[in-house]
Amino acid sequence: MKLGVNIDHIAVLREARRINDPDPLQALGICARAGAEQITIHLREDRRHIHDEDAIAIIRHSLLPVNLECAKSKDIIDFVCKYRPHRATIVPEKRQEVTTEGGLNVLSQQNDLKDTIYRLHQAEVEVSLFIDPNPEAILASKELGADWIEFHTGHYANLWAMLYSNLANTHHSIKELELPRHKLKARLEQELLKLQDLAKHAKGIKLKVASGHGLNYQNVIPISKIKEIEELNIGQSIIARSIFVGLESAIKEMKNLI
Ligand code: PXP
Repeated sequence: MKLGVNIDHIAVLREARRINDPDPLQALGICARAGAEQITIHLREDRRHIHDEDAIAIIRHSLLPVNLECAKSKDIIDFVCKYRPHRATIVPEKRQEVTTEGGLNVLSQQNDLKDTIYRLHQAEVEVSLFIDPNPEAILASKELGADWIEFHTGHYANLWAMLYSNLANTHHSIKELELPRHKLKARLEQELLKLQDLAKHAKGIKLKVASGHGLNYQNVIPISKIKEIEELNIGQSIIARSIFVGLESAIKEMKNLI
């Protein structure tokens, strides 16, 4: 399974001080050396971590294909069409969110998405849609002409965290909190089966399938066994681990798991 390393969090650390260190550009060679297959960055509308100059430099200098996650607003898509990363992953964006909280509502914005996909294809940029794992969103993505879908694995990751870590005691916004462990376990198994079935279905209709969000060194193992998922995009857990073992080792450890 291929690994895209989401290097936004390097810029998050830089922006904590609003200086020029650490520079996400310096991660490019390390990611390639460690065996990652792709660099993933999110150019948010508020530019809160990756800035335009970062994205331009990363697209120019990366030895690996660059997957740029972004909202479908006109100025961002103009930017993507001008600088032409290998792939654009269209994500929903809310200003107040800490991270991308769910998948795109593909069904309610089909006309806009169709235009966006057309423009990106004209610029020879592959298109992925970041969706929640459900059959309607998969079919709509196919009909709109997306090349890839990426399943938002946040729900799976939350269930895992509630079952196997202490997050359930601290994270009061998650509604399954009240569930007893055996029910959480059943939900987690259901979610995994759903991801497996839907990945198979998507591959069957010739969509390429990626997944990401909240994946870490523990919960990635069952996901890595779903052979229809070609690629995982992972950020937080790899950059967090790199604080203790260095980026190259953190990526190699993840590559070994998947
Ligand atoms: N894939 C997409 C489309 C995302 O928006 C994100 C989060 O920015 C990720 C993958 C990586 O998520 P995480 O940082 O939780 O590994």
